[in-house]
Amino acid sequence: MAEKKTTVISDEERQRQSGFCRQIAQLNSRNNNGRQMLAFVDTYGCQQNEADSERLRGWLREMGYAFTRQEEQADLILLNTCAVREHAEDRVFGNVGALVHVKRRHPGQIICLCGCMMQQPQVAERIRKTYRHVDLVFGPHALWRFPELLWRVLERRLRVVDIEDEPGSICEGIPQVRQSSVKAWVSIMYGCNNFCSYCIVPYVRGRERSRRPEDILREIEALAEQGCREITLLGQNVNSYGRDLSQDVDFPWLLEQINAVEGDFLIRFMTSHPKDATEHMFDVMADCRKVAPAIHLPFQAGNDRVLKMMNRGYTSEEYLDKIRALRERIPDVALTSDVIVGFPGETTAEFEDTLELIRRVEFDALFTFIYSPRQGTPAASMEDPVPMEEKKENFQRLLQVQNEISKKKHLDYVGKTLDCLVDGEGQDPRNNLTARTPGNRLVHLNGDKDMIGQTVPLRITGATTWALFGEPAPRP
Ligand code: SAH
Ligand code: SF4
Ligand code: F3S
Repeated sequence: MAEKKTTVISDEERQRQSGFCRQIAQLNSRNNNGRQMLAFVDTYGCQQNEADSERLRGWLREMGYAFTRQEEQADLILLNTCAVREHAEDRVFGNVGALVHVKRRHPGQIICLCGCMMQQPQVAERIRKTYRHVDLVFGPHALWRFPELLWRVLERRLRVVDIEDEPGSICEGIPQVRQSSVKAWVSIMYGCNNFCSYCIVPYVRGRERSRRPEDILREIEALAEQGCREITLLGQNVNSYGRDLSQDVDFPWLLEQINAVEGDFLIRFMTSHPKDATEHMFDVMADCRKVAPAIHLPFQAGNDRVLKMMNRGYTSEEYLDKIRALRERIPDVALTSDVIVGFPGETTAEFEDTLELIRRVEFDALFTFIYSPRQGTPAASMEDPVPMEEKKENFQRLLQVQNEISKKKHLDYVGKTLDCLVDGEGQDPRNNLTARTPGNRLVHLNGDKDMIGQTVPLRITGATTWALFGEPAPRP
């Protein structure tokens, strides 16, 4: 593939988009007698999409919208979609279909669909043809020009579709409305170059492009100053950060720079691709006080033939070597991973290698998926003779093995005292708060709401497969 230089959207262009925000605010105010306009934004998919939604909300706020959690009340509905598995897409089609009735009661309501799923031409076409109540469709590449697209919809009453395929760009300075003041997402790069054979992401998110370190550091300095306590660096493969920049920088270097930013905050990052996770990065993780002792390192499969067909670029032995190297440096590191069951042609005997790898590593938690064919990816045209029933059985076995491990690992925490960040309110009135251990395990506790945003020592008093229970303890 030919190397393409990353397009950086100029400051003037971003300001031009802000100009559209002002025009939209005036138009809305004229047409609605100054009534407060409301937007409903919903996000499907990964943290990268959550971070994108914070930017979309930023644009909407600049246009004068406030936010509602009720579709019924909204003047504008924006669904930020995910294409990673069929199930994610089915949910979107179902919800968009149901919006016909909501819009019938609100004839002026504007419905917008964006995100990875929309970047696929066959999806955009289906929406255009069969979901006539949708006003605007755009993909991740067009996020920076959302104001201009919406202006065309509002002013000219046009249906607009913008899913132009491109390697992708970087736009700094888009406003953000963050979900939390305690924890923040910071995208350090966009896109993916890895083309794992099952995965749609490189097709819908374009090529890898890294933000300039000075832009990232400025954002993190501002967050630290505002009292943010946890920053998660985002990228499809953060380990390849900087490869596309003319500066001689890489991910471990960036971690060191961020670690040196003044303030009391924890650094997390995701996702790391095992093929690019180096011992040097593990050294830096161990040395940097602010970097959490945790890593999400997806292995996807335990069998080498399957890994090769997936185009992952490592063997199971190489993966295990990396885990060993990491644990030598950070013995109590929390390990999580993604795994796919039922990749085309994966036999049950090959799947046993996945179970074996799980037993050997003993992950703290796993995100488990049944393979879902994605149109246009190489795996979608591979022969897939294994019946779904067999895949589902294997999937259940995998859950059982992991659940036992998760429970055992969680029980090991009982009696220990850990510094945890209290990050929000829980559902259960008996345990009204939630917190996270340094390894990012969920802790339920009872306490004063003022504790939210504080790092406090918690004594772990109980555990289930899914979570820990704790109580405030004196500092050890
Ligand atoms: N960039 C990240 C993952 C992004 S997608 C990484 O490489 O680790 C998140 C997870 O979804 C993947 O790790 C994989 O386990 C799963 N996934 C991706 N495509 C899939 C597909 N077609 N079917 C099932 N699971 C899939
Ligand atoms: Fe998909 Fe692989 Fe890229 Fe992750 S690294 S986004 S799984 S292609
Ligand atoms: Fe989904 Fe796009 Fe993320 S496909 S998983 S929202 S990068």
